[in-house]
Amino acid sequence: MENDNKIVLESTSRNGKGVGEGYKAWLRYPPLNLNQAKEYASWCGEIVIAASEPSAVLKNACEELANGIGSMLGTAPQIGGSGKLPRFLRITTGDLAELQGAMETAELEELGEEGYVLKTVREPGREYIAIAGRTDRGALYGAFHFLRLMQTGQSVNDLSVIEKPAAKLRMIDHWDNMDGSIERGYAGQSIFYRNGKFIMDRKRIRDYARMMAAVGLNAISINNVNVHETETRLITPELLPSAAAAADIFREYGVRLFLSVNFASPIPCGGLTTADPLDSGVRRFWAERAADVYRHIPDFGGFLVKADSEFQPGPFTYGRDHADGANMLAEALRLYGGIVIWRCFVYDCLQDWRDRKTDRARAAYDHFRPLDGKFADNVVLQIKNGPMDFQVREPASPLFGGLRQTNQILELQITQEYTGQQTHLCFLVPQWKEVLDFDTYASGEGSTVAKAATGELFDRPLGGIAGVSNIGDDSNWTGHLLAQANYYGYGRLIWRPELTAEQIADEWVRITFGLDPVVVATICRMLLDSWIIYEKYTSPLGVGWMVNPGHHYGPNVDGYEYSKWGTYHYADCRGVGVDRTVKTGTGYTGQYHDEVAARFEAIESCPDELLLFFHHVPYTHVLKSGKTVIQHIYDTHFEGAEQADKLVDAWRGLQGKIDEARYESALSRLQEQSKHAKEWRDVVNSYFLRKSGIDDEQGRTIY
Ligand code: GCU
Repeated sequence: MENDNKIVLESTSRNGKGVGEGYKAWLRYPPLNLNQAKEYASWCGEIVIAASEPSAVLKNACEELANGIGSMLGTAPQIGGSGKLPRFLRITTGDLAELQGAMETAELEELGEEGYVLKTVREPGREYIAIAGRTDRGALYGAFHFLRLMQTGQSVNDLSVIEKPAAKLRMIDHWDNMDGSIERGYAGQSIFYRNGKFIMDRKRIRDYARMMAAVGLNAISINNVNVHETETRLITPELLPSAAAAADIFREYGVRLFLSVNFASPIPCGGLTTADPLDSGVRRFWAERAADVYRHIPDFGGFLVKADSEFQPGPFTYGRDHADGANMLAEALRLYGGIVIWRCFVYDCLQDWRDRKTDRARAAYDHFRPLDGKFADNVVLQIKNGPMDFQVREPASPLFGGLRQTNQILELQITQEYTGQQTHLCFLVPQWKEVLDFDTYASGEGSTVAKAATGELFDRPLGGIAGVSNIGDDSNWTGHLLAQANYYGYGRLIWRPELTAEQIADEWVRITFGLDPVVVATICRMLLDSWIIYEKYTSPLGVGWMVNPGHHYGPNVDGYEYSKWGTYHYADCRGVGVDRTVKTGTGYTGQYHDEVAARFEAIESCPDELLLFFHHVPYTHVLKSGKTVIQHIYDTHFEGAEQADKLVDAWRGLQGKIDEARYESALSRLQEQSKHAKEWRDVVNSYFLRKSGIDDEQGRTIY
């Protein structure tokens, strides 16, 4: 749709580097070696489309197949052939009758809207690979799966794959502002906006939609949860046409558009004097806005809301609660099938550090647990993985398993705010896996966060996972080339939480760097070790923070210690850590179900890596590892910095095996990380030596 807010840019990046190997991310499709190519070529001469009127989504699925195959094999298949070749690909949607008999009927019935089948079918005189979904979106995901098999060098001769996503809503949250900046963005500026307007770089947004579909993502919110003045108008006639133009691009790749909204919108946009959710004028305002949004974007996903959190407006101003606020918006969207995603990141950000009773970790549960069952069925609560804020290590939020009668989705942070800001390598899939596998014991053993978030645990109609994007307009999308693995891994993991971090790393490396076993083994090792390396040289034993205030990069042990943000470690000359026990502390452990609460409550059973999150202990306390807390701090910081150095050596070993541009760009980040890790090591070690007065057993240099 044409409108005044559109500026057309060429598809080059801010850095003017144009489209390089980094830009192609997991859609690179480099030429394959002869042996592999032979097998694939025998199947890929022709794509037969078994659908009467192919939709845009299905056309894109075919085009992806044709382009990817063409690029890998040197010859593109003919699209829309009639199956004259002895072998071909056949893309099918609908009732899949042709696969009855070839696959288990029950499995086919359970495919749902997004599942797919890849099946090698052999009939007298012809053989084909069926890429089949009940819907066009299913077929699109199937097409990308087929391409992935080729990219990773797997045989396709005898396929019998059946897959469907674990989570219904597989979402990306962009924290992009319309001035072009990105809150907590480390890869350049927004790919959507500049100077208060939409940039309609269609090619780039389309490529982005392709990248999303390739890893199975189906929803996107395109503006920051902190909704400023300009973005407040995204739901008005002024900006809706531009949002609709973006939605048009995403739709063709099966991705639904959401917008973050300002709860107080009725005042600046509706000329009202209140945003009280129970006010009839306010309700009318939202009903009208919803109607208008759906006129522009018929398949609009819904509103994402950060309310009464970090100075964002909300229902509290009017003496109402979160359920009043969320349900009011839900009512406006219900008619159109839209949903409200209401965030649980609510806490007192004006705390007095002298107040030792208030515990920020308790806040989300204390606010939302009492409202369980009070939310409309098209409201979903979005819960951050941990009770604090995306630290390198946190326990899972007790709201998972705490809410039984409320739809919920898990919020992860792909952008590396507290994990090295895409200058440090920190592959987050292992961290996310721990969250997903965390057993809440809400309905006995096996009540994992994954099951709670997908809705399976309490049989909820809605559920899913959202990740805060790490994408910007840098030519390789993520700044640090290897941070692409986090976005890719996020999509793959939430489609199939049972995939291991090793499987995901291996897949991404093959797709991104090719099949050379040395390259694959080296980069996989680097990725898989990186989270623990980062944890070692930053804040110890789960206590968190210790970063510079504001931008959150780099060490500052007392940076948040005397602040209003509720983020303390309480280090003194005797010990460190936060007592969150029921017996002597803030009572936070009591928010978990009994089995979990007991494990965290007792020092003896609390896992080492979370010890200082739950307990205040003397520096001489002996960990399960046999080391004292203070010696653990020294040792991990020396080790972590050393291992960060080794990441550089490992990467250097790949020189000549990776194209120079990508090699050099990752090398410079790894070198910066290694330098910065030493800064972390020395600041943290010196701080604790000075506080505790206890020497390092090994007599290493501490300042
Ligand atoms: C963190 C982050 C903020 C962000 C907030 C949120 O506190 O530092 O930039 O707005 O999370 O999730 O809302």
